[in-house]
Amino acid sequence: MDSGARNTMSRDIMREISNLASYRRARTVLAYAGFGGELQTEDFLRRTLDLGKTLLLPRVNRETKSLDIYEVKDLERDLESGTWGIREPNPGICSPADIRAVDFVLVPGVAFDSRGGRLGYGAGFYDRLLANRPSQAWLVAGAFEIQMIEHVPMQERDVPVDVIVTEQRHYLS
Ligand SMILES: Nc1ncnc2c1ncn2[C@@H]1O[C@H](COP(=O)(O)OP(=O)(O)OP(=O)(O)O)[C@@H](O)[C@H]1O
Ligand SMILES: [Mg+2]
Repeated sequence: MDSGARNTMSRDIMREISNLASYRRARTVLAYAGFGGELQTEDFLRRTLDLGKTLLLPRVNRETKSLDIYEVKDLERDLESGTWGIREPNPGICSPADIRAVDFVLVPGVAFDSRGGRLGYGAGFYDRLLANRPSQAWLVAGAFEIQMIEHVPMQERDVPVDVIVTEQRHYLS
């Protein structure tokens, strides 16, 4: 996929996600800074701040092999290039946050199926983080239609997403 197509589709997908009732009413949003060939989330992060919502982003903790989440208030000031070159919150600037306060999660993934099955990068970072999610939290993935596959094998610890939005349609699980 060339970057032009990726930009256009990312914009469409993120606009749809911003229109979801679960996002509109969310006060605290956990999202991610896309990297490489992933969905581009930059505008969504900016919009979340502009709407006055609390924005949380994850940071890889190499010692605990888990994701720590921090509140980000300013995308230019608060982020640094972290593990795998992903932009992450600078812990010297940002306050640690609690997953239990989250009511909307933009979940990343490599592949998805129509029932909300999700394949990540194989480290279980998100499955471990989302294991502690509060019951009110909506888990939403934005993905390109080419990431949709017939069936993602899911095990007990794999956390499915509630909604997947692609450039073509919404999948509600
Ligand atoms: N809640 C959990 N507690 C402990 N280990 C877990 C938990 N969730 C997943 N794991 C383990 O993490 C490893 C990787 O999980 P998996 O293959 O599902 O990764 P993934 O979903 O692709 O990655 P990610 O969640 O980072 O996107 C597996 O060995 C899995 O059993
Ligand atoms: Mg998994």
